[in-house]
Amino acid sequence: MVDFIAEADELFEYTRDLRRDFHKHPEIGFEEFRTAGIVAEELNKLNIEVSTGVAETGVVAIIEGGKPGPVVLCRFDMDALPINEETNAEYASVNDGLMHACGHDGHTAIGLGLAKLLHKNKEALNGTVKLVFQPAEEGMGGAEKMVAEGVLENPRPDYSLGLHVWNTMPVGKFGITAGPIMAAAETMQIKIKGKGAHGAKPNEGIDPIVAASQIILGLQTIVSRNVDPKDTAVISVTAINGGTAFNIIPPEVEILGTIRSYSPETREILLRRIDEVVTGIAASMECEAEVKMTDITPVVDNDDALTHRIQDLATDLFSADKVVSDERTMGSEDMSFLMKDIPSCFVFVGSQNKEKGFHFGHHHPKFDIDEKALRNGLALMASTVFDLLS
Ligand code: NI
Repeated sequence: MVDFIAEADELFEYTRDLRRDFHKHPEIGFEEFRTAGIVAEELNKLNIEVSTGVAETGVVAIIEGGKPGPVVLCRFDMDALPINEETNAEYASVNDGLMHACGHDGHTAIGLGLAKLLHKNKEALNGTVKLVFQPAEEGMGGAEKMVAEGVLENPRPDYSLGLHVWNTMPVGKFGITAGPIMAAAETMQIKIKGKGAHGAKPNEGIDPIVAASQIILGLQTIVSRNVDPKDTAVISVTAINGGTAFNIIPPEVEILGTIRSYSPETREILLRRIDEVVTGIAASMECEAEVKMTDITPVVDNDDALTHRIQDLATDLFSADKVVSDERTMGSEDMSFLMKDIPSCFVFVGSQNKEKGFHFGHHHPKFDIDEKALRNGLALMASTVFDLLS
């Protein structure tokens, strides 16, 4: 029987040093050449079979157990964000304008720690582990591209696992929640076309600014009036662009926003009502409207049975009070592409430590994590893999 806590403790310095090195050298999506190079090099040192250049910079590794059995996919994202780092960490970014402000540096390090742990104990595994180091999670479509390039085939996974260090949760805790935990996301792009005129002669034009104002307020009634109060959804207008001067009524206004939902039924309601509200209000104001809504990511929906199994493993490995079973967010994650039609679970690994100053939110220029999360995430993921392949 493998002692996962002891093994993760033993690998702590290895994962911490890797994480700090990745943190210091952040790379934007599809340009993770240095990071992917280190990933491949570390896996090669273990004589693990590796495919590189999957979806540009992705790396996929296969570890075969001592006996045949199911296939478990474990996914780790590698990309950083276009943010100027403001931590004073000794391992702060040396790449101007780029920062690991979401913790993907930690995920990549956990993945390499997991590779070592599994490789060392692989004779005890009945099945296959597919380690997926993914590029471009941050809204750039890395997971979707990996799927298009066949990451879910040869072999096809029977289970899909992922994790995220989580600064809204104290280090030591885990968010392991069944059902939808991260939202389906789409972008909304609306054009309101009127007729330009002199600001002093509004009667000679058709004012798209007044129409846009009513549309924005109308959109705010969809979640409050059309969505079942027991479900949850978000419509946020995040940009409104139109006009050039104080005395000109512009011919056109553009509105941008984001749409978030958990259930397919609610998603349908949002998309239908946005279209109706925008075109209806625009028509009543004599304007024409164009509405374009584009999917970005599907919902992250954790499999019930697998999630309960992982809650039990976390309870055995740590303790019941470390397991939070209702942690959810309306944020989105492209891990959902690697979970489609596969029993899957995406776990939040607490990484917040207020005393040490690790309490800034994800994507904040002062974001940093308590690195104990690396050890905790590694121990839980390793124990899950062994449980599924025993
Ligand atoms: Ni992230």
